[in-house]
Amino acid sequence: MIIAVDGPAASGKGTIARALARHYGVPHLDTGLLYRAVALSLARAGGDPADAAEAEAATAFPDALLADPELREEATGALASRVSAHGGVRAALMERQRGFAAQPGGAVLDGRDIGTVIVPDADAKLYVTASPQVRADRRVREMEQHGISADREAMVAEIIARDARDMGRDNAPLMQADDADLLDTSNLTIEQAIQRAIALVDARLECHGKM
Ligand code: CDP
Repeated sequence: MIIAVDGPAASGKGTIARALARHYGVPHLDTGLLYRAVALSLARAGGDPADAAEAEAATAFPDALLADPELREEATGALASRVSAHGGVRAALMERQRGFAAQPGGAVLDGRDIGTVIVPDADAKLYVTASPQVRADRRVREMEQHGISADREAMVAEIIARDARDMGRDNAPLMQADDADLLDTSNLTIEQAIQRAIALVDARLECHGKM
């Protein structure tokens, strides 16, 4: 059983994907971490995110980088959204993601193009979203919990800019797949969003005779 969860920054897709993986007893891959690792590796090498060849070379990052706390920083996310626009970077990370999805028993993957490009034949697809204001509030709260102060208005602007980059790029732009279920979490608690996600996935699995 393969579940694809896509959506913009701070929509709740990561939390939902982790909860689905726990619920169905399958492994989970946060594919954003791979793009963040490319970004961090490039930044540390002093590379230029606009240079396709330099960004592509950074896809050969060591696995240990996936545990680096700097991956979670907002600046790394913003840089990831720049390096991820290069087709060569996306192609270099594709096999790794498809291999993860193909393991026996299935998997949950979350990202931007899981249901559209990585596993178009996934059994269930969710497109998780929320208004930019709600997403900015969540990010600011998350950062404050980690002792980092953040400006709400600057965060709204950053989220809108990141959406525009992710949705406007030529290679695998962020969009809802035709056969994905839309889950708007703007007015839902985390618990409500998870319950709704499970109900949507259950309905899809029943359709496919997988339950
Ligand atoms: O956690 P958040 O939603 O802020 O970001 P993320 O999922 O870690 O992704 C960081 C950036 O990587 C995104 O803004 C995308 O540009 C890129 N990305 C992508 O292009 N494709 C994916 N499957 C996952 C992330």
